[in-house]
Amino acid sequence: MPRPPMIVRTLPALRRALDGLRARKATVALVPTMGALHDGHVALVRLAKRRASNVIVSIFVNPAQFAPTEDFGSYPRTWKSDVARLAAEGVDLVWNPDVKTMYPAGFATKIQTEGPATAGLEDRFRPHFFGGVTTVVGKLFAQTRPDLAFFGEKDFQQLKVVTRMARDLDLGVKVTGTTTVRERDGLAMSSRNVYLSPQERAAAPVLYRAMKETAKRLRAGDNFEAAMAGGAVLITEAGFTLDYFEARHAETLAPIASLKDGPVRLLVAARIGKTRLIDNIGV
Ligand code: PAF
Repeated sequence: MPRPPMIVRTLPALRRALDGLRARKATVALVPTMGALHDGHVALVRLAKRRASNVIVSIFVNPAQFAPTEDFGSYPRTWKSDVARLAAEGVDLVWNPDVKTMYPAGFATKIQTEGPATAGLEDRFRPHFFGGVTTVVGKLFAQTRPDLAFFGEKDFQQLKVVTRMARDLDLGVKVTGTTTVRERDGLAMSSRNVYLSPQERAAAPVLYRAMKETAKRLRAGDNFEAAMAGGAVLITEAGFTLDYFEARHAETLAPIASLKDGPVRLLVAARIGKTRLIDNIGV
């Protein structure tokens, strides 16, 4: 049985634990999460364990990345089962600060990034989002000083934003993305899938199906616009309202209108009932 992870909630305790690791010349990997862990998070942890001698998982539901109208209050919190899963995976340390530790009174600093953060995808519909993510991830990196950090490709734009930020600020952490983990019917795993009613859950795999169908048409040389429009129709006919369904350059996230313009990523965000889902695939 692996040892249960050390649960750390204060900065002095975190510093002591990290000093111990550094003294042993450990390589440290960080997997930042907001808890409500699923198999996608576990895949990140397993990769982190293969690449580093010690793995820290942070669990912090970050108020700064939610708009007042969003689901900060109802975001799933499953602390006990999260810790049990992390123990089973042999995680060394769980960093679980409270909001006052992360944002003490008088906190007045924000990391604001451009480039991928202003690509016109998530930022168009959640303008507060990346400022909140980069600020908290910048803080998590400063607090845990990891050599490596792992983020899921499901949040593709977030992965690009955090990678850019780590490079631009010379944070000395190598950011790695991992393949999206899917349910058997193709739905990307997400902590927010629990919001779906049974009917919505039955409709949700259409996002992946529509992207796969569109990618197939694009690879077969179909007209680009027609293929994209066809994918969008599949999604809306299943009961979703689209925020976006777009083809972007997989590295720069620039809009793209031909497969010749570079590696292509299809990205979708769509709402059904009170749930907003995002997903993406490479073409
Ligand atoms: O992807 C998430 O769960 C969050 O955006 C992150 C990276 C943990 C920052 O709060």
